Amino acid sequence: MNHDIADRSLAELGDRRIEWAARRMPVLGAIRERFEKERPLEGLTIGACMHVTTETANLMLVLRAGGAEVALCASNPLSTQDDVAASLVEAGIPVYAIRGEDADTFYRHINSVLDTNPDLVFDDGCDMTTVLHEQRPEQPIIGGMEETTTGVIRLRAMEKDGVLRFPVVAVNDSDTKHLFDNRHGTGQSSLDGILRSANILFAGRTVVVAGYGDCGLGIANRADGLGAKVIVVESNPVRALSAAMDGHEVMTSHDAAPLGDVFITATGDIHVFRQEHFEVMKDGSILANAGHFDVELDLKALGEMAISYRELRDNLGEYTLPDGRRLLVVAEGRLVNLGAAEGHPADVMDMSFADQALAAEWLKENGPSLDPKVYVLPEDLDHEVARLKLESMGCGLETLTEEQIAYLNSWEHGT
Ligand code: NAI
Repeated sequence: MNHDIADRSLAELGDRRIEWAARRMPVLGAIRERFEKERPLEGLTIGACMHVTTETANLMLVLRAGGAEVALCASNPLSTQDDVAASLVEAGIPVYAIRGEDADTFYRHINSVLDTNPDLVFDDGCDMTTVLHEQRPEQPIIGGMEETTTGVIRLRAMEKDGVLRFPVVAVNDSDTKHLFDNRHGTGQSSLDGILRSANILFAGRTVVVAGYGDCGLGIANRADGLGAKVIVVESNPVRALSAAMDGHEVMTSHDAAPLGDVFITATGDIHVFRQEHFEVMKDGSILANAGHFDVELDLKALGEMAISYRELRDNLGEYTLPDGRRLLVVAEGRLVNLGAAEGHPADVMDMSFADQALAAEWLKENGPSLDPKVYVLPEDLDHEVARLKLESMGCGLETLTEEQIAYLNSWEHGT
């Protein structure tokens, strides 16, 4: 079996960590049991370009239990957990991913997975799908799945330009994905990344969060919970208002730059903090990015402004500016929660990856008759995942009476 990973001897550590994640993924576990019996993915080859984490490993194992052949490469050069890659290779799944790989290796690995001729592609950020469109336009594909907001934005742009050549399920847009994974997963784990790299106390510090979408909201509210003063920078008026009414200060990036101790971007946008901001930030400011690509902090400009750079701690780079101020950047401005911590906890990836597994089954059935567009999973699948998660958490779910259903479906009742 072909593969390209850092160190196969790490497999035993990976096995234990994957097992620990599996214990906290009961919904995916229930799907696995059904998949083992029904084998709904029999005959399919799946190519995945996702963060190589313990949770993704469990998804790969579930897809295989459903009858699919799977191959995996990384969706970010810095998010691969080498022990997990080793464990999957030992389990017979081809993995092409090495933590810290350069751009050439990253794309070579994507092409290695595509060489397995997948019927379905699982993407996280749309890089594999883009390679399929730009370099492999003839390769047949039944359909794709997309995990993150930035990937969905790219796909919708492809659909708008009329170039998307197969149907894709925007798994990110399922409620059981973005309302939990992006909020609670990114919220908690982004702070985890900053804590592991810098080990600061959040209480009493001013944390500037750029973007108040699902991820930004989660980050801001968790920082608030740790005792930080939170400033939100947001360009959408409704979301900015929502941040203000959630109790955060809301201001422009220009006004926030000299006030923050920690800056976290979660916008999906480019150069959110750039030279004009670096010029006025306080000595010791910490900068981190939770958005998908490493473009939110203009590190090229910061590098040009700096007179020196050093790795101060693991995943913490220090830029010294001519006036003596030092700005610290976590995980090279790449996804802070995956670069400097372990990504989202399994408890929340349980739902995201349950959605992915159900999307694969749904695409196998429906893909051949669908137009090349971006689709959202049907609501009943979303609700099924929520129901299973609630059950696993021991929560009760109210059932409406016949009278209530009739009332809610009628228009005749007034005062
Ligand atoms: P979203 O679209 O819900 O929110 C982004 C927000 O940023 C929007 O409200 C938008 O108005 C705002 N924004 C855009 N440009 C801005 C600017 N220059 N200044 C201030 N605000 C600006 O997106 P979501 O779901 O919160 O995702 C954000 C990013 O995080 C995406 O790149 C997504 O792919 C990524 N992501 C990362 C995860 C991780 O594990 N770190 C997990 C899930 C998503």
